[in-house]
Amino acid sequence: MRKQTEDAASAPSAAPRHIGVIMDGNGRWAAARGLPRLEGHRRGVEALRRTVRAAGELGVSYLTVYSFSSENWRRPAQEISDLMGLLKRFIRNDLAELHGNGVRVRIIGSRDDLTTDIQSLLKEAEELTCNNTNMTLIVAFNYGARHEIAAAARRLAEDALAGRIDPARIDEQSLGARLDTAGVPDPDLIIRTSGEQRLSNFLLWQAAYAEFVFLPIHWPEFDRSALEGAIEEFARRQRRFGGVAPVSAPAPNAMTGS
Ligand code: IPE
Ligand code: IPE
Ligand code: MG
Repeated sequence: MRKQTEDAASAPSAAPRHIGVIMDGNGRWAAARGLPRLEGHRRGVEALRRTVRAAGELGVSYLTVYSFSSENWRRPAQEISDLMGLLKRFIRNDLAELHGNGVRVRIIGSRDDLTTDIQSLLKEAEELTCNNTNMTLIVAFNYGARHEIAAAARRLAEDALAGRIDPARIDEQSLGARLDTAGVPDPDLIIRTSGEQRLSNFLLWQAAYAEFVFLPIHWPEFDRSALEGAIEEFARRQRRFGGVAPVSAPAPNAMTGS
């Protein structure tokens, strides 16, 4: 890792390779306009479409979007059903275009509580696009980082019990490799809209050295220029990864080793 950090330090100023987005504020956007929350979520899907397109054009390699958290089940049944409907429609309407643009789709989060039609749509999206290389869109759906970390710990325990791994050799790499995000570099930049300044159980492990940009606008208002602004803000940050000198490019997989 030391060697990689030195290499990174001499690299030219880097654009974020992986951006995570907490798409928040759909409900408040709608309420401020006297509209139902569903309309905010619909406009949120349009913002997502714009963002995926813009991220691809701006050379982002990985875009992770927080679409539904493991805590969002606490919402009224009608809203949950609306959100499930929007996910289905998004995949049905947009999968062909994403595939045509060379976007690989990955889904993180627990599939167990989802209906079988959603489970098969998610599988179809992943399988159809699995060889695409232009950009990876990671949809965090029914995702909660604590659940993800606990599941990785359970897999480690099972592997130890079965003799596949020596407990003394369990480290950050072996845990990182059992997260839903295995093989994905840690996010460099996490953007949250709506003015809230918290992670709400998003990528807790992976965000160890992420830069955060919190925007006052609501998610339906997010567009290419907001994304560019966040990337510019990121470029002004000095990342040190615990060292003394600023590191101009992200330390490769500093925490997960994936
Ligand atoms: C984000 O907008 C979408 C989801 C969490 C599914 P919200 O629905 O949380 O909107 P606010 O935060 O209530 O305004
Ligand atoms: C986080 O937003 C989850 C998503 C954006 C999908 P929430 O609106 O659920 O977060 P809290 O409840 O305000 O922390
Ligand atoms: Mg919210």
